Amino acid sequence: MQTKICGIDEQSLALAKQLLLQGEAVAFPTETVYGLGADARSDEAVEHIYSVKGRPQDNPLIVHVHRDFDLSKLVADESSYAEKLRKAFLPGPLTLVYKSLGKVSAKVSCGLDTLAIRVPSHAGAQAFLKYVDLPVAAPSANISKHVSPVSAQHVFYDLQGKIPLILDGGACSGGIESTVCDVTGPYPVVLRQGLVSREMIEEVAGRCDVYVPKAGEQVRSPGMKYKHYAPKCKTCLYDSPEEALSVFEKYRAQGMRAYALCESKFARLFPDGFALDLGETAEDMAARLYALLRQGEQVADVIIAIRPAARDGVMAGVLNRLNKACAGE
Ligand code: TXA
Ligand code: MG
Repeated sequence: MQTKICGIDEQSLALAKQLLLQGEAVAFPTETVYGLGADARSDEAVEHIYSVKGRPQDNPLIVHVHRDFDLSKLVADESSYAEKLRKAFLPGPLTLVYKSLGKVSAKVSCGLDTLAIRVPSHAGAQAFLKYVDLPVAAPSANISKHVSPVSAQHVFYDLQGKIPLILDGGACSGGIESTVCDVTGPYPVVLRQGLVSREMIEEVAGRCDVYVPKAGEQVRSPGMKYKHYAPKCKTCLYDSPEEALSVFEKYRAQGMRAYALCESKFARLFPDGFALDLGETAEDMAARLYALLRQGEQVADVIIAIRPAARDGVMAGVLNRLNKACAGE
């Protein structure tokens, strides 16, 4: 199959809609990462997404809708705090997990009685979702366990020949996946951290916990148990810049192509051209992380990352992705 990359216009949107109605998957931009969308109502279309990505069958998908979509068609009545969160943060990088009405394919939620809903703010995503006017099930548009794509070229690299169309909306500004927040209980619980921080949710809802799986318990967000976001080269992560530098020098001495991945303030410790510079703020780091991991895997035998010291707010999401990219090293 030939994979076309098209700008977002009347013609490409018409093609995207036609493809979705045929059960195909189409990649589209969002403000977080690129998604791989299919018709959420169709078992075959949803199964096709799992097979294109090589995704484990027990990791549920998020349903994406445009800003005027009537959510009461898909999910049970929301609590007052959920309504406040929706009004405060949507459209935007917050996914809300509701009780499902069972109106989309059961394969979307892998048999759970909940449904994750996302209303992306990216203009291209809104244009696509409005044009197709369907609930669109979409995971990130990467091969399962690889780094999520933040440009049309990243999607092409992973899924070339496997999907017919990539809608190109430029580079994603947010850079890490949406915050996933369960709103089925008495107060919100964050299942995956992201650009809408726990603190921001707490401010609107009065309370917000971050879910921590207990030993032996069935995880509430099945995606959490998988290694994710990993580049193809070796990766390692250090708290101490001095230790990272000495490991960097050791690898270079062995003739390995070592690159550092760190905040701007540490980049100058490394020789010119060998630091992948994450920037200064948590938002900078979120926006650059995946592009740098993908750039790094093209040139490096090993990426040596330095873990930022901050832990709260948006940095919690950045650290979660950095830890997963470097898992087991
Ligand atoms: O920013 C994003 O969320 C991107 C863009 C494309 O919208 N999408 C994304 O999808 O990251 P994916 O499939 O890579 O991650 C979806 C996450 C997984 O961790 C999954 O376990 C969780 O959402 N999830 C989906 N449905 C759920 C549900 N009903 N209950 C709990 N967790 C759910
Ligand atoms: Mg993903």
